[in-house]
Amino acid sequence: SAMASEKPIVVVTCTAPVNIAVVKYWGKRDEELILPINSSLSVTLHQDQLKTTTTAAISRDFTEDRIWLNGREEDMGHPRLQACLREIRRLARKRRSDGHEDPLPLSLSYKVHVASENNFPTAAGLASSAAGYACLAYTLARVYGVDSDLSEVARRGSGSACRSLYGGFVEWQMGERPDGKDSVARQVAPESHWPELRVLILVVSAKRKPMGSTAGMQTSVETSALLKFRAEALVPPRMAEMTRCIRERNFQAFGQLTMKDSNQFHATCLDTFPPISYLSDTSRRIIQLVHRFNAHHGQTKAAHLTARFQVAYTFDAGPNAVVFTLDDTVAEFVAAVRHSFPPESNGDKFLKGLPVEPVLLSDELKAALGMDPVPGSIRYIIATQVGPGPQVLDDPGAHLLGPDGLPKPAA
Ligand code: DP6
Repeated sequence: SAMASEKPIVVVTCTAPVNIAVVKYWGKRDEELILPINSSLSVTLHQDQLKTTTTAAISRDFTEDRIWLNGREEDMGHPRLQACLREIRRLARKRRSDGHEDPLPLSLSYKVHVASENNFPTAAGLASSAAGYACLAYTLARVYGVDSDLSEVARRGSGSACRSLYGGFVEWQMGERPDGKDSVARQVAPESHWPELRVLILVVSAKRKPMGSTAGMQTSVETSALLKFRAEALVPPRMAEMTRCIRERNFQAFGQLTMKDSNQFHATCLDTFPPISYLSDTSRRIIQLVHRFNAHHGQTKAAHLTARFQVAYTFDAGPNAVVFTLDDTVAEFVAAVRHSFPPESNGDKFLKGLPVEPVLLSDELKAALGMDPVPGSIRYIIATQVGPGPQVLDDPGAHLLGPDGLPKPAA
């Protein structure tokens, strides 16, 4: 049985969401502080489908900072983990010196234990670092009693992580200051703003692991004139336009701009030397499918310009597609994906997440898609929607660390 002195004095568990950029972050002006060369804008995905859960505990009985990810102990000496810890402790010290009463007078000298896990398979190649570092920052802030802006803490873990600190639609303002104080995430619109918006993640069967974002963007900054032009001349007006599309809930404009920004990001990857390519043959077939699906509806549905884009894709530093559409189009698009990429029975359920009712495709649409089916090249689809920011879990049963400060055995 645990002795009283072994009890952690503070234990907090929080969850944080994944985000997907519709104006992409690619390139740093400061590698150490993780300051970007352009602003970016993202959609926060719902935590019912994708989230990180993190428990942090501090106790005077802990002898070192330790971390467990998905049940396995990892090296807390990792520079980015260290940067997050250092930042949060600095903010806690600052808060205390600013004269706030400290509820935990000794806590700053205490060591921390952290356990973190995802509710989605890491093997799927879905970027988990944004949710992971946002959750770490948010949880540590609760433990150390920090209530200031956490952008700089999350950002030091992974740039895109600062956008996972809020729900709905979020911008990361690049800022101009060399110390990064003005490089912060801000909510553009809350998750309730656009209830019809749906998100489909098409998890592509990938053979090899692509080059990581950190190394990839570094080479791009060093070698791509196109990236420099994008960051300086194209992104600023695009940020304003994307914000307007979202405020007005204009799916046509939102979808078109989202696809163009994804394509431009991948163009800068190809302009990088040596070139980087994140898209696979399946990714390119998905792009074609989306354009043909849209073209078909552009002709049939009343033919005005406003019906041109029913569905929009975006791709990050890997082959998986994230697709945006509205609730009235989800079922038909999922049927189109099933038609073009018939599931191979590999034990995985093909459709996960929000329920989507099965529908039959018209012969006209099948003909318009005009693709030879490629069985098995999409492993599964996760259907989700826009969601809220990080949450504190009050139920002590949710803690990933036991009273001894070690990971609870998996249930
Ligand atoms: C293509 O945030 O993973 O997903 O700051 O080096 O950790 P680091 O990179 P990261 O890069 C994300 C790149 C992207 C686009 C985006 O999310 O904006």
